[in-house]
This record gives sequence, C-alpha cells and structure tokens, in this order.
Amino acid sequence: MIKRETIEKIFDTARVEEVIGDFVNLKRAGSNLKGYSPFNDEKTPSFMVSPSKQIWKDFSSGKGGNVISFLMEQERMTYPEALRWLAKRYNIEIEEEEQSAEDKQKQTEREAMFLVLEFAKNWFKSQLFDTDTGKSVGLGYFKTRGFRQETLELFETGFSPDRHDAFTRAALDKGFKKEFLIKTGLTLERNDRLIDRFRGRIMFPIHSLSGRVLGFGGRILDSSKKTAKYINSPENEIYHKSKILYGIYQAKQQIVKDDQCILVEGYTDVMAFHQAGIKNTVASSGTALTVEQIQLIKRLTKNILVIFDGDRAGISAALRGIDMILEQGLNVKVLLLPDGEDPDSFSKKVSTDELILYIADNTQDFINFKAALLQKEAQNDPVKKGELIRNIIESIAKIPNAIQQEIYVKEVARIMAISEQALFRELALVLKGIQRRVEKDTLRKKQQETLKPVTKNKPEAPALNRRDILEREIIKLLLLYGTKEIAVEDWDIKEIPEDNSEPVIEKFMRNTIVADEIYKQLQEDEMQFSNPVFKKLYQLIIPKSLERQEIDVAQLMPELSEEESRLVSDILMDEEKYELANWADRQIEVKSKEATLGWHVMDVLLNLRRLLIQDLINEQKESLKDSDSESKRIDIFNEIKDYLFLFRLVSTKLFRLA
Ligand code: CTP
Ligand code: MN
Repeated sequence: MIKRETIEKIFDTARVEEVIGDFVNLKRAGSNLKGYSPFNDEKTPSFMVSPSKQIWKDFSSGKGGNVISFLMEQERMTYPEALRWLAKRYNIEIEEEEQSAEDKQKQTEREAMFLVLEFAKNWFKSQLFDTDTGKSVGLGYFKTRGFRQETLELFETGFSPDRHDAFTRAALDKGFKKEFLIKTGLTLERNDRLIDRFRGRIMFPIHSLSGRVLGFGGRILDSSKKTAKYINSPENEIYHKSKILYGIYQAKQQIVKDDQCILVEGYTDVMAFHQAGIKNTVASSGTALTVEQIQLIKRLTKNILVIFDGDRAGISAALRGIDMILEQGLNVKVLLLPDGEDPDSFSKKVSTDELILYIADNTQDFINFKAALLQKEAQNDPVKKGELIRNIIESIAKIPNAIQQEIYVKEVARIMAISEQALFRELALVLKGIQRRVEKDTLRKKQQETLKPVTKNKPEAPALNRRDILEREIIKLLLLYGTKEIAVEDWDIKEIPEDNSEPVIEKFMRNTIVADEIYKQLQEDEMQFSNPVFKKLYQLIIPKSLERQEIDVAQLMPELSEEESRLVSDILMDEEKYELANWADRQIEVKSKEATLGWHVMDVLLNLRRLLIQDLINEQKESLKDSDSESKRIDIFNEIKDYLFLFRLVSTKLFRLA
C-alpha cells in the first residue's frame, strides 16, 4: 500500500497535460489542449485536456477523467501501477505502509511481471557493460557493427551469457518468483529444470510508448550457428507482438516534431538510423505491419515513410502494409534503398548529410512507387498493364477521403498516360465491389447475431433520467459557481385556499450564495440525491462550498473513484466544449449565464424538489394500498396531504418563476 501522503504528493505534482503529452500530440486550443483521440480512430481531433482543471475528456469515446484514469485507459495500468508510474516520472519517492507477506503476494501478476522485466533489462545491461565476456564478446560485436556507446545506452541493449541458467539463478537469488520468470518467457521449464530462454545473445529490450520494458529480442553473435538469428519474448499478458513497435519510446518526440514516422524492419535498422541522427524511426520487427501498429503511429503523426530493402519479398510485404496504412487514413510515402542495402548498412556507408539527401531525393509518393514498380513488370503487355491499373486503383479505393482519391486518380492518369474518365470508371467499379462486400458482411453478421444468445450483448450504460439530469446540474452549479453571490426570486405565502386552488404568494428578491441556496432548499424537504455518484460528490463538495472555499478539482481528484472522476470531468468539459465552440457565442453565453444564474439555480432546485416530492407521494400511495389498519391509513393519508401541499407550493413557485 502506498501511503496517503505519497498519493497526495503525486496528485500535487503530476500535470495531466505533461503526462498525456507523452502519448498524444497536443496542440493549444484556447485555454485547453487538443489532439487526436488515442482510443478511437478519428479524422478531426476531439480529445481535450484542461491544464487548469487537470482533467481530460475524449469526446469520440466518451472517456475522461484525471491523470490516473488516463494511464489506466491508455496503458492498461492498475491504479497502483499508475501511481508508481507517475512517481517515477516525477521523481517522487514512494513511501509505503508496511507490507505484510500476504500483501506482497497479492501484488498483481502484471506488476510482478513488469518488475521481472525491469530486473532482466538491468541484468542483461550489466552483463554487457560490466563483465569480461560481455565486454569482449557483446560490446565487441556491437563495435564491429559500428554502434557507439551512447546508442547502446539509449536503447538499453544487453547481453545474455552462453550459460544454462545464469539469468534465472540471478533472478531467483533476488527473490523473483519462478512463476513470473516463466510467465514473462525469460525462463523455460524443461523436465523440471529451469533454463534461460536467451543464451549467448545480444539483447534488445522492447519498450512501450511510455518506456516500460515489455519483452526482449535476442540476436546470436555467430551467424554460423544453426539456430534462429533472432528469438523474441513469447506472447504473454504484457508482450503482444502485433501491438508493439520497436523504438517507439525513443522516437516518439522526434516523430511529433517532424510530423512524420519512418518505418523500417529491424532492431539494428532503428538503432543505426538513430545514430545517424534520424530519430523518428521505428521498426515493425520483421512481422507484417498490423492495424494496431499503424494506430499507435497515428497518435503521433499522420505521415509515414516506409523504407525497405530492394529485395522482392520485402517489396510485396511492403505493398500490403501500404494498403493498410491508406485504409487507416494516413499518408504514406516509400523509399527504396539501393540493391542489397538495409537501413543499417546503408546509413553506415554514407555520411548523415548524404543519407538525408538520399532520403529527400528518393522518397516517392506511394502511387508513383507502385506504378513504377508494376510498370517494370508489365512492360509492353497490355493485359498486364490492365491488371496493374486495377491494382493501383484498388489501393486508391482504400483511401477514406474522396478528394485525396481524386488527386491520386489524376496523378495516375498522368503517369500511365490513360484518360482520367477511364480511371474514375474503374474506381467506381472497385468501390461498388467493396460496397457489396461490406453489405454481405453486415448481413452475415446480422444473421449470426440473431443466432447468438442475447445475453452476450454488452450492457448499455443506462440513460440518464430526469432526476439524474437535475442532480447532475446541481453538482455542476456547485462545481462552477458554488461560492458566487446571486439574486433569487422568492415568495411569501399570503394565503392558502381550502379549495385546492393555487396558493396566493407575493414575490420578492433576495441575495444569497449558490451553495447556500442549494443546501438550504435540499435540507428543507430532507431530500436525498438518488444517484449514488452524485450523492457522494454532493457530500464532498457542499461542506467546502458552505465554507466559501473555491472547489479545486485537482484537489478533489484523489478522493474520487474512476467513475466519479469521469463524471466530474464530463461536467466540466461539457462547459469547455460549449465555450470553445464559438468565440462570439461564448461571450454572449457567459454574460447571459451570469445574469440568469439566480434564475437557473431556482429553476433546477424547484424542478428537482418537485420531482422528489412526487416520488415521495407515489411511495406513500403504494404503502396506503398495502396497509390494513385504519389508524395507519390515516397517518399515511395525512402525510400525503402534507406532501401534496408542498407539491402545490413548489409547483406554483416554479410556474411563477420568470
Ligand atoms: N526477426 C525475428 N526473428 C528472426 C528474424 C528476424 O524476429 N528469426 C525480426 C527482428 O526484429 C529483426 C527483423 O525481423 O530485427 C528484421 O530481420 P533481419 O533484417 O533479418 O534482421 P536485422 O534487423 O537486419 O538484423 P541484423 O542486421 O543484425 O542481421
Ligand atoms: Mn540488418
């Protein structure tokens, strides 16, 4: 357990805009920051961060909250993981309540695995830099390949000695559990014996976007050996190959700065490019590019440059990758390296200036690239040329933006000397084909769904009812205007007619404070909030407001659960969105709101009171049905009468409110 004081210190220090800035490219928009949602595919940015309120809100997915809930959503951290991550980022020392052996045991599996991975990274590093074998064999190998010390340090490379279980023993000695050594894949169990997965290899730790080690790749030093050149961590709870890009942690800042990401194939390619000063480079690590990987890039930039070696296998893999990038709505360019070179070898053959020049001169738009490539194959064969055009049009059809499509069609027409009309006709055909496939798919899905039991469906969030809406509005008023002075209309009761007609009341104005008024009126009917979340928020906020304290949302956050903090940020961000929407409108909006604040407070309160009184009346009516003793019935009846009177009064006030 982390001590309460430490948690408070973390909340005091951590800045939501800085932390989110590690993951999302944020741009200033008024007093807020804006960016593309990391949770959703989107064309226009709808992700907002408020530095003043220390909250965030993603309008595309509806998610929102504080700095902790962001880490929980984004990195799938648990609450304590997120706290520890923040403590580390801000150099805050974590003080813990004394932990029992039992508590230790209860640490989540993922946390334990991360600790093992962190230990392993450091152990492999020290093997490389501090041991004789490591220095001669490991560092020696890196040196012959031209990698400098600072590059090795940046990528935290390591060395696993060629022994059976050197790592496993070291880890067990340090008290790490066998279970987690195996779950991370660092240790293998064979016939009751434990052995290291990585033996006699140089080690490449694979980092998440936030810099945590997720797994490793290990390369043999001696290419004459008959084992795989690389072995990698196996898929597990933490390491999902399809969602990882090697180097993303080291490259992310530069990617944002350059507004471009360079995609290569291998670990050493990334390191070599970095060393050559091209730092916006990541690798798909030899696997075919996945949608998840593209989306990871999309958080940082919409522009990808794919570099690949000149060999045939590499090219067809890259073509598939390119189509996928287009489908995700990103811009893609390609660069072919000279025959027989990969980014690693080529970057070491030329100077940095030459490398940059080569990239600038040889980067091609994907259409030009594909056209040139296929044209070479088609030569003068008209049948093949037809296939080629179809192939390019299929790529263009994958672009979600119609204008972009048109630009490409015109370009292809020019390059291939074909009329634009013919190409547009072809494009229409392809699009129709896609449309038909999509329709068939949805039909099939629908048919399958009708066969599925309904219980499988995710429960929809219950819609807010009228009462919830009003309770939410009260919380909003407290949060935004709790200590503001307002003038409200009130009424003296002059006469209450016996015949159930409207009470005679006389209007007058009085000054009050928003929070006082809310508190007073809710006390009057002994009203309770029905929604538990609003109730808790009310109880947290009202004492502060009554003492004329401004509500500091950031300070409130440590008290709130995830759901509650989401609600608070929803409430506040709704307001922000409103204000951001139109500057001119906003001026008017704010002014009129201030002027009518008193009216609004009364309106909300009276509406809520009326609703709650009505509920109470209905309740009493129900119990009237159930009760059999006459005296009880009379009691209930009198109570209903009181409530009815109150209801009449509140209704009258509400309708007189003008
Ligand atoms: N790879 C892998 N397993 C293999 C071969 C390759 O996981 N058996 C992955 C690695 O991530 C590697 C990438 O595919 O970095 C590209 O493979 P390759 O081009 O063969 O390796 P390089 O990165 O060029 O490594 P090196 O230059 O050291 O040969
Ligand atoms: Mn290579």
